[in-house]
Amino acid sequence: VNAVAFAVAGGERPLASLCEELGAEPGRVEIRAFPDGETYVRIATPVADRPVLIVCGLDRPDAKLLPLYFLATAARQQGARSVGLVAPYLAYMRQDRQFQPGEAVTSDAFGQLLSTFLDWLVTVDPHLHRHASLAEVYRIPTRVLHAAPAIAQWIRRNVAKPLLIGPDGESRQWVEAIASEAGAPWVVLEKTRHGDRDVELSLPPLDVWLDRTPVLIDDIVSTARTMGETVRQLRRLGFSAPICVGVHAIFAAGAEAELRDAGAQQIVTCDSVEHASNAIPLGRILAGGVRSLLAG
Ligand code: R5P
Repeated sequence: VNAVAFAVAGGERPLASLCEELGAEPGRVEIRAFPDGETYVRIATPVADRPVLIVCGLDRPDAKLLPLYFLATAARQQGARSVGLVAPYLAYMRQDRQFQPGEAVTSDAFGQLLSTFLDWLVTVDPHLHRHASLAEVYRIPTRVLHAAPAIAQWIRRNVAKPLLIGPDGESRQWVEAIASEAGAPWVVLEKTRHGDRDVELSLPPLDVWLDRTPVLIDDIVSTARTMGETVRQLRRLGFSAPICVGVHAIFAAGAEAELRDAGAQQIVTCDSVEHASNAIPLGRILAGGVRSLLAG
């Protein structure tokens, strides 16, 4: 494809596997802070008339946004044919409406902003809840990829008698898909969020599944309150220690330890956000998405 791929803050690992899968050239770029805290960017690989990919997971996005913008702008100034973003995790998808008067709807604002300086976007399981698709927030072509096949494969290989559990209605989309690929039973719970770190869960009767290993599945693990509370309730009902599977390992400070304290047997995540729990690689899935987007 003659493409050049650059990494911004944390994109280095997915960059290597993407370049290998796609046959793209890993681009050299210098990104550093001046003593006054402003950002310096210099592209050292020719990009003229070539598709440029920027690989940047958008967890902790605020500090990454300006380097990303400067790099995209520099590539365009130097004649890149197109500039696209591979963001294995896409930030700012959860504030998708005003819950309180005066709030910024950051999913829309962030989407509009990225759409002004990028030509396309590829991501994995963005948090689509009240938005039905990324087209509602992004004005550029997007490809949404799914971790479900990779998670199902991990479960098939590692858990003998799983019961897949989604903590809330939103999780149904991926829990159902994973369960059908893994050939396992599944249930979805009801969740009410009272605050950033305050969630309440209600469980349906689960006695018939007590002989199975609960595998909790969620898209984002942030404070881990959702998973932690689910783990506690399952333990109270007499289940064996659950396995917690997250797509995006955001893990706010202290969250992983809290989840272990709650009684999780194992915490496993995809590698969209670098974390010690990463065990499910998404490189192939990402490369397939980029290839189809560049081709079409
Ligand atoms: C929200 O609806 C998501 O699907 C996750 O359940 C949520 O982001 C998890 O957040 P936390 O780990 O802070 O409970």
